[in-house]
Amino acid sequence: MLDEIQKASAEFESALAAATTSRALDELRLRYFGRKEGLVPALFSRLKEVPKEQKKDVGDALNRFRDHAEAILKERSASLANAEAAQKEARETIDVTLPGRLPRLGHLHPITIVRRQMESIFSEMGYSIDPGPEVETDWYNFEALNFTPDHPARDTQDTFFLSEKLLLRTHTSNVQIRTMESFRPPIKVMSCGRVFRRDEITMRRSPMFHQAEGLLVDRGIHIGHLRGTLEHFLHRLFTPDTKIRMRPSFFPFTEPSAEIDISCVFCGGKGCGTCSHTGWMEILGCGMVHPQVLRNVGIDPEEWSGFAFGMGIDRVAMLKFDLPNIRTLFENDLRVLSQF
Ligand code: DAH
Repeated sequence: MLDEIQKASAEFESALAAATTSRALDELRLRYFGRKEGLVPALFSRLKEVPKEQKKDVGDALNRFRDHAEAILKERSASLANAEAAQKEARETIDVTLPGRLPRLGHLHPITIVRRQMESIFSEMGYSIDPGPEVETDWYNFEALNFTPDHPARDTQDTFFLSEKLLLRTHTSNVQIRTMESFRPPIKVMSCGRVFRRDEITMRRSPMFHQAEGLLVDRGIHIGHLRGTLEHFLHRLFTPDTKIRMRPSFFPFTEPSAEIDISCVFCGGKGCGTCSHTGWMEILGCGMVHPQVLRNVGIDPEEWSGFAFGMGIDRVAMLKFDLPNIRTLFENDLRVLSQF
């Protein structure tokens, strides 16, 4: 029995060395002191089998082993609990000196930047801003603007029809008619918004894009006013040394009509790949409001005259931010958008 106690004591020491967690220590305690299967209570219960003359020695040895084991288990579990609490605290502590994670700031979309620029240049000149509706009738989008019934722009190839009566506007010129129907001259209005055409998506085209439109109607307005206004506008939008030229053109709602080119924003007019070595870039359409358009909205062309112009906002954004592909503007890739 003394041997057994010695063996149990040696085993206890090595098991103790191996128990490095509170859980392992609990298991060890159960193995030695558990009420039912514990080794120490089992040894005590066998004390009655020990011959009388050995009883004292065996009892003493057993008591010593028990006291020693109990004490050391207690001490070990206290120090393990301390260490584990310290570890937990280290794991869960928040280091308040670490730099915080900043929320990502939003950016204005390139189209919004250009639209706001355009709007502010015209509102400084006293123009009111009216985006107008995107869903339109044939009257506002075509008929009142003097499009003949067989004009190719009315073709279902170009226009998205929502029903027999309604369509998605193909340009912002609808705002001209809506404004002249609602207000008497003098009129100065500017409109920026989305327009829609049944086009394939390419590098330079998209079925949805943005236009800016302007209209001025007053007494004695002539083409010099148009040119001066657009020159001021384009110098503000691009640079003061941007050169401007007017080329005759055709639009059903203006007479005469013109297209305006600016000196290439990339080469300054010397000629490069982007401007096909011409030094010029087409930037907008314009003209004097057609007398029939004025009549269509009940304004007397003998008394009033006006000019109008329209241009693509996306195209200006592509020029200003040097974007070769219009899709970049609509893909909403944050890596791209966060640069503006
Ligand atoms: N609406 C024309 C287009 O979409 C652009 C335009 C040209 C607008 C001449 C005008 C204008 O107001 O006078 O191509």
